[in-house]
Parts: sequence; structure tokens; C-alpha cells
Amino acid sequence: MDEDLLMLPGPTNVPDEIRVEETRKMINHRGELFHNLYKEVQTGLKYLFQTNNPVYILTTSGTGAVECAASNLVKKNDKVVVPVNGEFGIRLADIFEVYGARVIRVPFEWGEGVNPDTIKETLENNPDTAMLAFVYNETSTGVRNNARELTEIGKKLGTLVLCDAISNLGGDELYTDKWGIDIVVSGSQKCIACPPGLAFITLNENAWRKIEDSKPHINYYWNLEKIKKFHEKNETPFTPAVSLFFALNKALKLISDEGIEKRVLRHKTCSKALRNGASSIGFRLYPKKEEYASYTVNAFNLPSNITDTDVKKHLLEKYGISIAGGIGPTKGQIIRIGTIGDINQKQVEKTLTALEDCLVTKGLNVKKNTAVNAALKVFKENKY
Ligand SMILES: Cc1ncc(COP(=O)(O)O)c(C=O)c1O
Repeated sequence: MDEDLLMLPGPTNVPDEIRVEETRKMINHRGELFHNLYKEVQTGLKYLFQTNNPVYILTTSGTGAVECAASNLVKKNDKVVVPVNGEFGIRLADIFEVYGARVIRVPFEWGEGVNPDTIKETLENNPDTAMLAFVYNETSTGVRNNARELTEIGKKLGTLVLCDAISNLGGDELYTDKWGIDIVVSGSQKCIACPPGLAFITLNENAWRKIEDSKPHINYYWNLEKIKKFHEKNETPFTPAVSLFFALNKALKLISDEGIEKRVLRHKTCSKALRNGASSIGFRLYPKKEEYASYTVNAFNLPSNITDTDVKKHLLEKYGISIAGGIGPTKGQIIRIGTIGDINQKQVEKTLTALEDCLVTKGLNVKKNTAVNAALKVFKENKY
């Protein structure tokens, strides 16, 4: 069966009205039409990131934006504190190390949230820290870290703060300027509901001061000073993915039409409903506490005698639904289901019906509609 419904942690379903934008006639990326497109996209991105600063658009996936940040913002031996409670925390630390930073990895158990007090203590013990870099939504475990509190701690203790919001920007609260986050990175293929291929980075004046201080930079393609110069002309230094800009523009218009608060509530509600439904039939939440369960990536332990392959295969072959398994240490142990971007009640109900049917097919005794009924309770209480 075709992949009809992507319930993945990304890439996600791209609504037709966004998808068709990619087929528009090509335009000159140094011409007036592109300049106008670029300006419109900037307006949408500033709203999405809740910032007055420019949001630079890179032709790359999310990792490219993280690498762009590292290659511009650190100089050799800069201390960078990175909380690690999953695979993407590890990657963040690895990337900063590649660019010469002395990375202090602060480990937490997988499935646990980052404890802000531990980070505070680490920063207090390392007053020469140049940056605190953290993952907001740990996609590998479905844990949502407390970005607001981590930022507050970083600011109070005088470090720059970088937030990787790749898997939740557009589906979760993030107030770049109000919270005072110095650098935020994200990508197109998750809560924005765009195809993969674009990544974003926004920086405030503290970050720009650090860029100046970190010269010379080890980069060419990712040189933010060059990117900034071209931004001022509503262009990018190198050939941009023009078709993706068309799609992004439409996606951002849909976001501003819906409104950020409403969009976050939709993600939160769909995630809660999915979690309620799945746990009612024996898929226990992987995060150790509900209070730090992600709104966008829902990770579950498997009922006994059921493998991740059983579930993934059943959902895909019988229902055309794609979900993900674990990565790193949780490979083969958990499933991960996205409630991302275009997510709605119908998709959640379809996924729960398929999960329930999988268990019944495997001989488990599950009363019909248990999962959907548990989800409906949440939808009734939380209108979006
Ligand atoms: C939190 C987080 N950081 C980084 C990445 C890497 O992004 P990409 O695969 O777009 O390079 C991902 C991808 O899932 C992610 O979820």
C-alpha cells in the first residue's frame, strides 16, 4: 500500500496547496520577483520565530543550520555546555566539537527531561562558558525540554543561548525575543509542513558580537556575514532552492492565518489525544513523566511480545500509515509517532484504529474502539 499518511517525526504530510507551489515557473533569483518573494517569506518567518531580527534561510536540512551556527559562533577552545538526553543532543555536541569547542556534555537518562538545576550548577562551575546549546524537543525520545527555563538560566549566568527547535517550531511555544534566546535554528520539514530542504537561523545582537569575536571563521558556504549582506538585498549568496521558497511562502501564510497560539493548541491536543489513546491499549509512554512529553513526537514502549517491526509493517501495509522506530539505544525498543504540521483529529483517530487493529491481529485482547474513545475524551475537552 502507498504511504498515504505520514505520522513520522518528519518529514511530514505536505498539504496540496503547499505542494503545488513547488511546480511554479522558475524565476530569476537575482530579480524583482524573487526579492518580493523573499520579503514576504521574511514577514512570515519573523512571525513564526516571534522575533524582530532577520531569519536567514539556508538551502540545507536542519543539521546544516546547526553547523552554520557552530562554524560562525565558536572559536577554538570555547567552552560550550550541551545537555544530552537523546540522539540529537549528542549530535549538537558532536558538531560543536568538530569546530574546535571544548564541549561539556551534561548527560541525563534517556526518557528524562533536562534538569535545569543541573545545568545551572554546570554553568556556575564553568563561569567561562561561551554558550549553552540545547535541543528543545528531543526527537529521539519524545521529550520536551524546558527551553524557557534553560534560556533564563543561560542569560542570568551570562552565556549565549542556542536552541535547536528543529522538531517543534510551529507546533510548540517559542518566543525568541521575549525569552531572549540568542540563536534559534529550525527546518522546513516538520511543524511548518513544508517539504525538506530549507533550514533557518535567527540571531540577535549578542550572537553577532560573538561572531565578530570568533573570527576568522572555518567556513565558506555558511559564512553568516556574507549571508547577512545578501539578506539586505533580499537575496541569498548562493543559488537558493527557489521552488521551496514558493512552498514555504504558502506554508507561512497558512501559519499566520491559523495563528501561532491556535496552531500550538492543535498540536498539543492531537498529541495528548494520541498519547491517551495509545496508552489505553498498552503502548506505555517512553518519557518518564507526562509533564515533559513532547507535543510533536510521541514515543511509546511496546506491549509485550510485539515488536516495532510488527507495528510499523501492519500500519504501513494495511493502512498506508508510516511511523518511526527508535534510533540509537532505543532502536527496536520503541515506536515514535509524529503529531506534526498538518496534524488533525481524523489522522489521530485513523492511527489509533490501526494500532488497535495491530494488537488484535497479534492476538491481544483489546476491546473495540478503546483507543479512539480515549482520544475522543481529549478532543472533547480541548477544542482547537
Ligand atoms: C531536534 C533535531 N535536531 C536536528 C535534527 C536534524 O535535522 P535534519 O535531519 O533536518 O538535518 C533533527 C531531525 O530530526 C531533530 O529532530
